[in-house]
Amino acid sequence: MARSGRSSRFLIGGSTCCWVLLGLICLALADSAQVKERSPTILAGNTIQAVERLFNQVLYATIEDARQRLPALPANETIDRQYFEELDLVAGNEDYYSTAFYIFAWINSDLMYHKTPDKLLVEVLPGEKIAIRRFFAKVKPHLTKYLRLSRQDRSELVSNVTQLATETEDSLITTFLEFPQNLKSQLPELQLMDYTKLAQALVQGVASGIWTKA
Ligand SMILES: *[C@@H]1O[C@H](CO)[C@@H](O)[C@H](O)[C@H]1NC(C)=O
Ligand SMILES: *[C@@H]1O[C@H](CO)[C@@H](O)[C@H](O)[C@H]1NC(C)=O
Repeated sequence: MARSGRSSRFLIGGSTCCWVLLGLICLALADSAQVKERSPTILAGNTIQAVERLFNQVLYATIEDARQRLPALPANETIDRQYFEELDLVAGNEDYYSTAFYIFAWINSDLMYHKTPDKLLVEVLPGEKIAIRRFFAKVKPHLTKYLRLSRQDRSELVSNVTQLATETEDSLITTFLEFPQNLKSQLPELQLMDYTKLAQALVQGVASGIWTKA
């Protein structure tokens, strides 16, 4: 394919990207140390569904915002349109959102590695932070209800979530990306879908399509 030369940039062409991949893989590996079958109770299942829905809304909103800003930006200031187009072709919830999670991490990679943000990130960041704060505000009642009904106490987690609902620092972005993992480390039964699925597949060399073309 004519465009495949460009796509390799995304996977191997920049150190930033490799760092994103490594960062996501660290999350995934920390995760696999305690992989267990996902067999939630109805209560846990309902909570997982609610949290996933809210988490996915942030990914979706940020990616759509970024997608709409691409045409107005110089080519060297944006990630490739192609990855957004590819996302549209992904079927299956977990495949879709693990791809969205990967693109989301890519958009935010300058922040995660303390570099000067590119124009795309500068433009999406304010809206993204609002969406993430709203996420934490909306997750809190689901979490407190779950803890009450399952008779558990995770007051530090709840107070962190409360605080994150008003957080303005850039660290909010990384905290958001790490949230599924953090939640699971606190409450193993609340295991969300595997958002690092695409990142893991890339490292294992099993992902196909534009993600792996050299
Ligand atoms: C993109 O190109 C412009 C003009 O050449 C330059 O000023 C800017 O720093 C470049 N941006 C990146 C992220 O390389
Ligand atoms: C709460 O936030 C603090 C400070 O960011 C962090 O060190 C701690 O691990 C968090 N605890 C939980 C349960 O999320």
